Amino acid sequence: MLILGIESSCDETAVAVVEDGRRVLSDEISSQVDIHAVYGGVVPEIASRNHVRAISALADSAVARAGITKGDIDAVAVTYAPGLIGAVLVGVNFAKGAAMALNVPLVPVHHIRGHLAANYIAFPELEPPFLGLIVSGGNTILADVRDYTDIRILGSTRDDAAGECFDKAARVLGLPYPGGRPLDELARGGDDKTYDLPRAKIEGAPYDMSFSGLKTAVVNIVHNAEQRGVAIDRPGLAASFAAAVSDTLVPRAMAAAAELGYDRISVAGGVAANSRIRRDLEAAAAKAGKRLYMPPLRLCGDNGAMIASQGYFEYLAGARAGMDLNAYATMRVDRAVY
Ligand code: KG4
Repeated sequence: MLILGIESSCDETAVAVVEDGRRVLSDEISSQVDIHAVYGGVVPEIASRNHVRAISALADSAVARAGITKGDIDAVAVTYAPGLIGAVLVGVNFAKGAAMALNVPLVPVHHIRGHLAANYIAFPELEPPFLGLIVSGGNTILADVRDYTDIRILGSTRDDAAGECFDKAARVLGLPYPGGRPLDELARGGDDKTYDLPRAKIEGAPYDMSFSGLKTAVVNIVHNAEQRGVAIDRPGLAASFAAAVSDTLVPRAMAAAAELGYDRISVAGGVAANSRIRRDLEAAAAKAGKRLYMPPLRLCGDNGAMIASQGYFEYLAGARAGMDLNAYATMRVDRAVY
């Protein structure tokens, strides 16, 4: 079954063709990162306009690169939540038009479920159940992935997402947006014990997380140093910060996997590209005898292939949307409202 997957929830317009949920025939991405970098963050209105500009040609190119014709497409899958509402709407409306013109089913896909599906592509043998750790620019969630479309939230951030926190810490360190990757690179030259940063715990909610105190701590260190005219150890601060995020995520993921009795942990989302977090997860998983699944870097960020992949499993579970499908800025990963 060939699924055309469409993603436009933030600053990447992406269209892909995936066969039977696992085999990627094409995966086209048009990133707006450079356009938004000058503003230090994604400007929603600009993102929407650029999705409109890019999406049609990108879909043509995804079909051509897949070596198929439009008539071969069996269903259209699209991110309908969560994301920047104007941006998501562009993909949803394009997908409606495509599904109607091709006379094929329209399948709504939750963006975070899509991130989890990145590992179905990277590891064809991976099947639920497993523990899911989703760390992206807008979400930080520990999930019990019981089945492809049966996902329960075990814990999530109470405030900022890990990626948001990386971007903010990078910004005060004078690094370009999005700051996760440059901060990761800066951290490699630093000592992670240079600064004592907080690792928040939430009483009574062992799998919930909080990153806003960590973010404020980094901002305060930089501002205090500026006011006193003293230099900060930038690589040291970056390394201490990455260690604090990793210390928040990794032990929780391991504890949740142990509690549920899962021997597999699947990690997804843009922050899953972080070298410190990857290294710590690998070490902890090896120690606990768990198998770790992490997407290759190109599948960590937003892409259309993961939406087409999850779309296939949603399709098998019976998910269908009509021409009245709406876009939603927020939606829990364990819900499917459309
Ligand atoms: O999953 P994603 O592409 O978009 C969302 O759906 O949110 O994640 C983007 C986030 C950004 O906050 C970016 O700074 C972060 O992923 N990121 C990283 C790294 N690469 C990207 N964070 C830490 N280390 C990295 N190497």
